[in-house]
Amino acid sequence: MREVAVIGVGLTKFGEMWDKSFRRLIAEAGSKAILDANIGGKDIDAMYIGSMSSGRFVGQEHVGALVADASGFSHLHIPATRVEGACASGGLAIREGYLSIASGMNDMVVVGGVEKMNDVGGNFATETLATAADQEWEAFFGVTFPGLYAMIAKRHMYEYGTTKEQLAQVAVKNHANGALNPYAQYRREITLDQALNATMVASPLGLLDCSPVTDGAASVVLCAAEKAKDFINKPVKIVASGQGSDTLALHSRRDICTLDATVHASKMAYKQANLTPSDIDLAEVHDCFTIAEICAIEDLGFVEKGQGGKAVENKITTLDGSLPVNTSGGLKSKGHPVGATGVAQIVEVVQQLKGEAEKRQVKDARFGLAHNVGGSGATCTVHILEAM
Ligand code: COA
Repeated sequence: MREVAVIGVGLTKFGEMWDKSFRRLIAEAGSKAILDANIGGKDIDAMYIGSMSSGRFVGQEHVGALVADASGFSHLHIPATRVEGACASGGLAIREGYLSIASGMNDMVVVGGVEKMNDVGGNFATETLATAADQEWEAFFGVTFPGLYAMIAKRHMYEYGTTKEQLAQVAVKNHANGALNPYAQYRREITLDQALNATMVASPLGLLDCSPVTDGAASVVLCAAEKAKDFINKPVKIVASGQGSDTLALHSRRDICTLDATVHASKMAYKQANLTPSDIDLAEVHDCFTIAEICAIEDLGFVEKGQGGKAVENKITTLDGSLPVNTSGGLKSKGHPVGATGVAQIVEVVQQLKGEAEKRQVKDARFGLAHNVGGSGATCTVHILEAM
């Protein structure tokens, strides 16, 4: 296997992007990444694009070729492939790009992620997201993603004494981080009271426990590590790529409070990087709901099972804590354009490791981790990055 580095990153603003089409969003993120990497179209061997449900959200499938075309590369006939794994589509696209370079097949790959979710009404968006759940045994009976994660939250509270205040503290922290991120959907701090008293969505999860519905795109340029410094001075190496899967339906799991796909993907990644959870200096984790961040820091091995709520309460995961989590604002505040999220997480980790995260900068970070989940945990990717 060859080593792989990230040499360019690009993001669009996340939010309700009424004035930008699906193709414009991904072309904007992609061109920023390509400019950042100092490359041109002729350098690109392949493109991988994560998008969960462009067919339902904007009526557009055939996204691989569309993105190459919208980027102005149709005449180069670059192999361009769409990758789908629900909200983990972006993480999977990163992994496909990574594997294609590690294998020796490609030297330079552009990875993108994009979703435009606000062009449809709220109910249709909720139904579209629910296509990532088990249609026969979950969605058919009316369950939605807030409902599924609410069940995880209730069980976590019952098993481990996790409190609604601890869930709210995740939201407060992530909004505080998002307020510092110029690309975030919600650049505003919230108080604990606001989080605790927000409109109920699916008990115990209120509005401020949920990630929003978001338009946005992200892109990175991956390059064989041995060639990375030909293009930029400060590449960031991907030192591990892990992936796991699990039952589609939540009720079929061994334990609904543990995402075994995360456990599996992270063990795979720690083994490849020859690291332990205590080596990680910062993490972007998949906080689609506040309870998901608490489960993630447990399942990634940062704290013991059941101690995630306490860790948040003890401020371990704040920007100046011992393990900053979701410095970007996370899905909660930065926003969650589902197919773009896994790529945007890599963008944040790269900016942190290069010392380019401005007001969100974590000092002296060497290893950063990105954790991307599809559905209620049936797909997971974990990537670990290191400044070169
Ligand atoms: N966090 C913070 N504020 C939010 C928000 C969120 N998640 N969602 C909406 N808002 C704000 C809006 O900006 C708006 O504010 P304004 O009145 O100042 O403009 C207000 O709340 C109402 O927004 P609206 O779009 O009408 O909310 P909604 O009730 O239609 O949707 C949710 C709220 C929580 C149901 C929706 O965001 C949702 O479905 N989130 C989950 C998405 C999801 O499941 N993703 C996949 C995860 S696996």
